[in-house]
Amino acid sequence: MSRQQGAFELTNLVDRIAIVTGAGNNGIGWGICRHAVSSLGMRVAVLDLHERLVVDAARRLNDEFGEGCAIGISCDVTKPESLVEALSSVIKHFPDRSIGAVFANAGVIFNHTLLKSTAEEWSTTLNVNVIGVVNTIQAFIPTLQAQTEESVFCTTASVGGLVRGDGGAASYQASKHAVVALTEALSFELARKSPQVRIHVLCPCIVGTALGATSITNAQVARGVVATDDIEPAKTSELLGLAQTPDRHAQQVFNHVSAGNFYMVTENEPPYVDHEFPFDAEGIIRERMENMLQLDLDNSDAWSSGPNGPPSSILKGPLWQELKRRSNR
Ligand SMILES: NC(=O)c1ccc[n+]([C@@H]2O[C@H](COP(=O)([O-])OP(=O)(O)OC[C@H]3O[C@@H](n4cnc5c(N)ncnc54)[C@H](O)[C@@H]3O)[C@@H](O)[C@H]2O)c1
Repeated sequence: MSRQQGAFELTNLVDRIAIVTGAGNNGIGWGICRHAVSSLGMRVAVLDLHERLVVDAARRLNDEFGEGCAIGISCDVTKPESLVEALSSVIKHFPDRSIGAVFANAGVIFNHTLLKSTAEEWSTTLNVNVIGVVNTIQAFIPTLQAQTEESVFCTTASVGGLVRGDGGAASYQASKHAVVALTEALSFELARKSPQVRIHVLCPCIVGTALGATSITNAQVARGVVATDDIEPAKTSELLGLAQTPDRHAQQVFNHVSAGNFYMVTENEPPYVDHEFPFDAEGIIRERMENMLQLDLDNSDAWSSGPNGPPSSILKGPLWQELKRRSNR
């Protein structure tokens, strides 16, 4: 087996820059920024759509971890020129440092079935989740290739990008399958040419964030219904104690980076949560693989009541059964 990358010493990232898109709302990207600064000694560029959010996020990092550790840059990942400008701002702000890590993490979700989702939801989802990742790759990878030091480039897909489609969030899941496939393509494309650029795809299970709410707010801003000046960082949800917090999730992310894992599935399991009710990513990924090898799709879950709301072939493991139990208390 010719892997692109083996284990990685995280101390290689000390004093270097981490650039994280979609990091302005206290979610996964925010957790990665905090971990990069506080545990790895990196400087971070917090990128997100709205100036107000990124300035506030950078101020909070500078207040907590020391002036100068963070910069906030407003950036729309659907616009290639916005990412190119963001790169110039990063280089201008941290002139003597190399880029250690880039996380193409911005995303949206509209939680509707295929027949109930609108064309606008599909185009926003594919635009942000897929084209936004492609734009981020095209804007930052050439700089990483030009560096001789090793660096990390990680896209954010989802466990939803590795498992079958079912009755929920159809556009989201299709987009995340695309992120997995395009990140595999990137890994292959760079394997021989630029082995110093380490490629990963992050496939989180459940992290306590406000993704659904930020997606709706950003859609309202795009329609002119909400003004950017009115936006506050979103309040995250903990899913009755079952979700990973963004901080603990970030530890798992960097443990995968250190191990050199390409598919970074971040399961809801100890030590990243204080319970024993996993999402069961492995079981659900295996189900899809077995179905594919048998050339058939097992829809029997469509007849089940589903532990958490409507029938689902994905949201059915121990975590969801426990969520139902806790919700009924
Ligand atoms: N929370 C989970 O359980 C979970 C699970 C699997 C995957 N993910 C993925 O993790 C990533 C981060 O999501 P999160 O859960 O932390 O929620 P989040 O809302 O905190 O992060 C998404 C961010 O992307 C930003 N964004 C949206 N459109 C953008 C654009 N055009 N340009 C720049 N930024 C834009 C949003 O403003 C938001 O801050 C997403 O890609 C999401 O699909 C999350």
